[in-house]
Order: sequence, then C-alpha cells, then structure tokens
Amino acid sequence: MSGFVEKPEPQQVPGLVHLHTGKVRDLYRNEAGDLVMVASDRISAYDWVLPTEIPDKGRVLTRLSLWWFERLEDLVPNHVLSAELPPGAPADWEGRTLVCRSLSMVPVECVARGYLTGSGLAEYRESRTVCGLALPEGLSDGSELPAPIFTPATKAAVGDHDENVSYEEVARQVGAETAAQLRQLTLAVYGRARDIARDRGIILADTKFEFGFDEDGRLVVGDEVLTPDSSRFWPADQWTPGRAQPSYDKQYVRDWLTSPASGWDRKSEQPPPALPDDVVAATRAKYLEAYELLTGTSWS
Ligand SMILES: Nc1ncnc2c1ncn2[C@@H]1O[C@H](COP(=O)(O)OP(=O)(O)OP(=O)(O)O)[C@@H](O)[C@H]1O
Ligand SMILES: [Mg+2]
Repeated sequence: MSGFVEKPEPQQVPGLVHLHTGKVRDLYRNEAGDLVMVASDRISAYDWVLPTEIPDKGRVLTRLSLWWFERLEDLVPNHVLSAELPPGAPADWEGRTLVCRSLSMVPVECVARGYLTGSGLAEYRESRTVCGLALPEGLSDGSELPAPIFTPATKAAVGDHDENVSYEEVARQVGAETAAQLRQLTLAVYGRARDIARDRGIILADTKFEFGFDEDGRLVVGDEVLTPDSSRFWPADQWTPGRAQPSYDKQYVRDWLTSPASGWDRKSEQPPPALPDDVVAATRAKYLEAYELLTGTSWS
C-alpha cells in the first residue's frame, strides 16, 4: 500500500485551472497558459505522502531552487518566469509559488551520483554496476565514485518506486540525441553544484533533475533543483564510508517511522501515522539548516 494518507483538495483560485496534485507540488494553469507551481509543506517517506506537514518546507524548497537556478543559468535554462504571487492567489501561497513555463516533460528522472548509496548501492552489491555501468571493486555505503555518473530512472506513479534504467534504455525511449543531452546537462549541473556545496562543507552525494522541452524545442530544467527532497546532502566533516551517512533531509522522519515509537509496520497495509511534534520540529530544522548552510544566509 502507498499513496496519500489524506489527499488534499485543490484550492479554487479565479483564473487558475487545477491540473495536478503531486506528492509535494500542486500544479495550476493560469490564463496566459503558464504553469503555476505551488510547493506544499507535504512530506513523503516510504512511498507515502504523510498526513502531517512540515511548516515552511514548501518555502525552503522554493527559495533554495531559485537560489540554485540563478547559479546554474549559464549551464542550463530553467522554467521560472516569476516568483510573484499570481493575482487572487491565497496569501499563504506567498514564497512557495512559481509561475513557470509549461514544459513538455521528458519522462526520465535524471540522476547524477558522485557517491554510492541508496538504490545505487543496492544494485552495486548485486552486480558491481549502477544502471548497468561497471564500477570498481571495494566500494561501500557512502564511497566516492571514481567520477560522477548519470544514473537515470523512469518516473513512477504516486506510490511506486522509480526504476533505475540503463542509458541505452533511455536512448530507446527518448532518442539518442535527447539522451545524450540529458546526460551532458545532468553531469554538468551536478559538477557545478557539487563544487558550490563542497565549499560550504556539504557533500552533494547525488541529485535528481527533471527536464522538459519548451516551445522552441530547447531542453529546460523544470521542477525543483538541488533541494533536500531531490538530493542527498551530507555534512562533509562527518563523512565516513562504510555506514549510512547523516543527511539534511527526511532521515529523521524515516528513522522515527521505522522505530517502535511509531507503532507502524512498513510492510503492513496500514497507512503511516501522524508525526509527533518533536519529529516535525527536528525535520523542519534540518530543511532550514540545509538552506542556511548552502546559501550562507539566515532563513528569516
Ligand atoms: N515546467 C514544468 N512543466 C510541466 N510540468 C512540470 C514542470 N515542472 C515540474 N513539472 C511536473 O510537476 C510535478 C511536480 O509535482 P511533485 O514533485 O509533487 O510530483 P511528484 O509526486 O514528484 O510526481 P507526480 O506529479 O508524477 O506525482 C511533477 O510531475 C513534475 O514533472
Ligand atoms: Mg517531484
């Protein structure tokens, strides 16, 4: 079982048509035909969108994505048109709403990995490969890879796992030229972001981008970029390969959900329970800390 514990109702806003409720973002179309992307405070873990929100999370994701988009502009165009609140939108959308170019999204999660963990580590343990790419012997959880690799995945519906696929499979699905461009852009942006993060004491272990085509057929980066939801950020001074690394994301939520305290059995058909206040507060603090460390500015 998986999905939304409680699916939120879309907001009625004059001039906006609701298009889609994602795990985290709500999509609307404005009268100009542009996309209005509203980042909520929802959080997902273990394929569930949890019934408890993390205050300010949507604003952190939005502000951090904008910060990165600016620093990547010379490498790749992005979808942002405006961060101004559309007329008539609820006041609480402020700071978490972006008007974006509506792209024709490429159905591939473009992942770059500089370090081995998660689904990459699982595949490596089985076959010494990640997405079919051969890797050297002797790597463990958290090891740095000889060079960053492009490890695409196909996007799953809400509640399903994304599935790692080979580069050749991507080329079959989207064409050789687009596949090559996706890989080149993903690795270029990862390299830039990794260096920026490293200067701030953070390891960017891996990250996921979503690209789409604009009206002129140009590949543009959409969605969010380089946030704790789409990336693994590790404190560099605590990095120790051979174990799970502490990270600036939902680790706290995951740990609580799988602890006896939650009373929840991940393998059961039951939806996960509400998060207690201390878990909410600790998770909020992690998101804010990631924002502050990366941007070098204080949150409020
Ligand atoms: N510029 C854009 N044009 C069109 N779609 C976009 C654009 N930017 C992001 N998207 C889409 O908006 C959605 C963002 O919502 P969110 O991240 O909550 O979704 P998700 O749960 O990851 O995936 P899904 O929406 O498939 O459930 C994604 O489907 C993403 O592909
Ligand atoms: Mg998403």
